Amino acid sequence: MSIGSIDPIDLARRLESFVESPIRRIADLLESAHGDPSIISFGGGEPSLDPPLELLDWLHDELALDPHRVSTYTSTAGLLQLRSELAYELGRSGVKIDASDIVITIGATEALYLAIHAVVNPGDEVILFDPTYVSYEPTVTLAGGKVRWVATSARENFEPDIEDVKAAITPRTKAIILLSPDNPTGRVLSESFVKAIADLAQDKKFFIISDEAYKEMLFEGRHVSPAEFSDKAIVCSSFSKVASIPGFRSGYLYTKNSDVIKGVMKLKQFVSLCSVLPAQVMLTRFYQHGLHQKYLREVVIPTYRKRRDVMTKALRELLPDAYFSPPQGAFYVFPDFSSYTKHLGLNDESFADELFKRSKVVVVPGHYFGASGKNHVRLTFVTEPEERIVEGLERIAKFVSLANLAKPA
Ligand SMILES: Cc1ncc(COP(=O)(O)O)c(C=O)c1O
Repeated sequence: MSIGSIDPIDLARRLESFVESPIRRIADLLESAHGDPSIISFGGGEPSLDPPLELLDWLHDELALDPHRVSTYTSTAGLLQLRSELAYELGRSGVKIDASDIVITIGATEALYLAIHAVVNPGDEVILFDPTYVSYEPTVTLAGGKVRWVATSARENFEPDIEDVKAAITPRTKAIILLSPDNPTGRVLSESFVKAIADLAQDKKFFIISDEAYKEMLFEGRHVSPAEFSDKAIVCSSFSKVASIPGFRSGYLYTKNSDVIKGVMKLKQFVSLCSVLPAQVMLTRFYQHGLHQKYLREVVIPTYRKRRDVMTKALRELLPDAYFSPPQGAFYVFPDFSSYTKHLGLNDESFADELFKRSKVVVVPGHYFGASGKNHVRLTFVTEPEERIVEGLERIAKFVSLANLAKPA
């Protein structure tokens, strides 16, 4: 029988329970554009900086010295040396943790998948803030869980109200997912809010899954981890942003709860065996000799702070009807474009499509981040240099001055 005549066989129904990530769709779109320089991307939050050159030299030398040692599997939890460096680093920031409480993962993405699948039973509820990062709802759904949304608003700087969280808690609440600094809003959670969540988790017995992918991408304020106060915290974090290495697919998970660590490792044995060793070799070096702090202080934060300032200033000047709350951290601004989408007769999805077709500017439609993101767009300020940030916003300003696009010409 030839391949063409094989009858289709049904795929798993779980594939219909969630939609594709708009951010991954943008990565595919940009790849198929083959680096077309006329495209300005405010799409995926990908660092445009090089990783520290010293790290690349280090990895090169280690591979040359003993290629086999750097190319094998590791234990499920990952390189002990890297976990020990991380435990030391976390101790300095107020979180007392042992190397044995840490698992190195394939990015924060795998850490979140493992954490959610280790604690959520079918029918359990997970509290999410609206808007928030796109990957939580599909992952909770895959685990059979149900999402309970807690709305936040730009007028309140997207700071959630603890009374709204209390109202969302039910006997089925298994976890809440915190993200600070936040994607898409750039909001940083206050210490009093994080403490209040830790108290609730203790009282009502649920986990706090804390996504700390952007914990060091801070322009104002201090990052507060629930792990400073609570043994209910399961922290999922990333090396993608802090070391500018998203393609090395590396992150980590830690918790003081040894049952959760055992559960996560049991799952990881069958999800990925272990994480990427060359990246772990490189990252061990990153946390030695003050390299990590130096790279952040001298390269990452000054570059991104400047770009954030350029983007927010140009937004105010060029698109004065776009209301936004200035981001305190992370890589994004999340303006409300309602007045522009309304004038053009579009919604945030068709706005993003038309903008790309006519002006070659990539933005992410806001509704993917939750119902309150409707008619917002997410703009990242880290992928383009300052001149192109301004040029991209000028192109958007020109685009929004067009006549209603929904009306027939
Ligand atoms: C909030 C948030 N969490 C997790 C991730 C995934 O990070 P990683 O590259 O470590 O998988 C991202 C990526 O942009 C993110 O924005």
